[in-house]
Amino acid sequence: MNRRRRIYEGKAKVLYEGPEPGTLIQHFKDDATAFDAKKHEVIDGKGVLNNRISEYIFQNLNDIGVPTHFIRRLNMREQLIREVEIIPLEICVRNVAAGSLATRLGIEEGTQLPRSIIEFYYKNDELHDPMVSEEHITAFGWASPQEIDDIMALAIRVNDFLTGLFLGVGIRLVDFKMECGRLWEGDMMRIAVADEFSPDSCRLWDMKSNDKLDKDRFRRDLGGLVEAYTEVARRLGILQENE
Ligand code: C5P
Repeated sequence: MNRRRRIYEGKAKVLYEGPEPGTLIQHFKDDATAFDAKKHEVIDGKGVLNNRISEYIFQNLNDIGVPTHFIRRLNMREQLIREVEIIPLEICVRNVAAGSLATRLGIEEGTQLPRSIIEFYYKNDELHDPMVSEEHITAFGWASPQEIDDIMALAIRVNDFLTGLFLGVGIRLVDFKMECGRLWEGDMMRIAVADEFSPDSCRLWDMKSNDKLDKDRFRRDLGGLVEAYTEVARRLGILQENE
């Protein structure tokens, strides 16, 4: 029985009230959704893997001084996080053409981009997360110009770090989505990386075979999602050979 107060339930995660003020518990579910949740499945073990992979990445980001919401993992499916005021943007960073960029601009999937591209989408399910520009973000007050600068700087730093981290284990970081929030410490505020980093929100391709090790396995009915996520966790050294 879970008697904790539920603060928010998303497609793949639940947020509960934390043990202390200013903290929350982030719980990873096994649900997988795609295409505006029109496609939905429960994939046994996905939440456990994402909790571990996200912990590993956030701990590394904390270690290199990137401000994040992550405090520590609590158990198989849950982590303790700092409460932040979520900025209603999905920030996508792309290194290689794939997914919606490949479709929208007619660029062949797999084409290396001339430089990393950062895109903003307004987080709104009813509107299907439309792409927005800095003009929209400041005009509608979702973030200030200074906050956009801080978000871009964080996105570039995270991309550089994660690209290297995955390169070291034979994986190409094609693109990823991140979210940011305002982290208040007294009356001081800074922008911190929030939400999760997992193969649900990144495109990860094996360097040699170009095999997809991410949620495209589900979106494109390729099968083998848990095996792919397990492979990512193994290569990062999170799981032992026998796990
Ligand atoms: O679909 P698209 O190509 O725009 O996705 C870019 C990246 O952002 C992918 O890694 C995808 O997994 C991630 N993404 C996400 N949540 C969304 C949209 C995209 O995690 N709502």
